[in-house]
Amino acid sequence: MDLFAAFGPWAVVTGASAGLGEQFARQLAPLGFKLVLVARRAERLETLAQELAKTHGTECRPLPLDLSAEGADARLDEATADLDVGLFVNNAGLGYYGSFVEQDRERLAGLVRLNCAAVALLAHRFARRLVARGRGAMVIVASTAAYQATPHMVLYGATKGFDLLLAEGLDWELRGTGVRVMALCPGATATEFQGAADGVPHPGADPSVVVRTALRSLGRRPAVIPGLSNKLVVHSQRLFPRRLVTFFGERVLRRFDPAGR
Ligand SMILES: NC(=O)c1ccc[n+]([C@@H]2O[C@H](COP(=O)([O-])OP(=O)(O)OC[C@H]3O[C@@H](n4cnc5c(N)ncnc54)[C@H](OP(=O)(O)O)[C@@H]3O)[C@@H](O)[C@H]2O)c1
Repeated sequence: MDLFAAFGPWAVVTGASAGLGEQFARQLAPLGFKLVLVARRAERLETLAQELAKTHGTECRPLPLDLSAEGADARLDEATADLDVGLFVNNAGLGYYGSFVEQDRERLAGLVRLNCAAVALLAHRFARRLVARGRGAMVIVASTAAYQATPHMVLYGATKGFDLLLAEGLDWELRGTGVRVMALCPGATATEFQGAADGVPHPGADPSVVVRTALRSLGRRPAVIPGLSNKLVVHSQRLFPRRLVTFFGERVLRRFDPAGR
């Protein structure tokens, strides 16, 4: 599919200063997309915007914004109101390893604001705009953690379950409008995520491969799980009782929780 013809000319990417978001920007720019790059670290966004503009001759607007702050969805909507946005990559997110009851409550509140409230409010604002123009797409980045309970990362898995159901439900509701929504559900990926999550470093998929899979699937399906082993794990879980799935999930996640080993 010619993604630019289908979903151009402007794409907004949240969480574009690192990891998967940065990869979305890097892979969309050569396709001709003009980009709005959103995250908190302004310097990184500026550097990336300049590089992509220089290399691909495309227009890039860095937009430093804390998406967990009250009213951030309105600010992003207003800052892009003059642009014909056809693709919204709802990607910014984080998680924390550790015991739920021992976590700092403010940190958990920030996690819910970013992974759920901001994702839903931005989905609402940009889905309206896409429907009004009769064509467009949205990626909502969930996780394989969305498919089962995640002891040692309880709230993270719960927020990603929210993101997955939001994407699948919204895609169905928007049938016939010309707008497609897709949940991207990666397994462990080599980004800055594990560091930010206070996790034990462990190998992960190449983020460029994850994003390539996402872009290949965009407009074709409501959810994509990159990687054969991730697909097998997620789909085979349906054959087992949920408590057993949680039991095995805990054994895996325990290894990545510095306090759980
Ligand atoms: N890496 C994995 O193993 C993995 C697996 C499955 C799903 N995911 C999901 O993939 C998405 C991207 O994560 P990643 O792996 O690319 O992690 P990452 O490398 O840590 O990137 C996270 C991005 O989100 C931005 N961000 C964090 N808090 C923000 C806030 N309050 N306001 C605005 N932007 C914020 C960060 O930028 P600033 O710090 O500059 O704000 C950064 O650009 C997340 O939704 C994550 O849950 C990751």
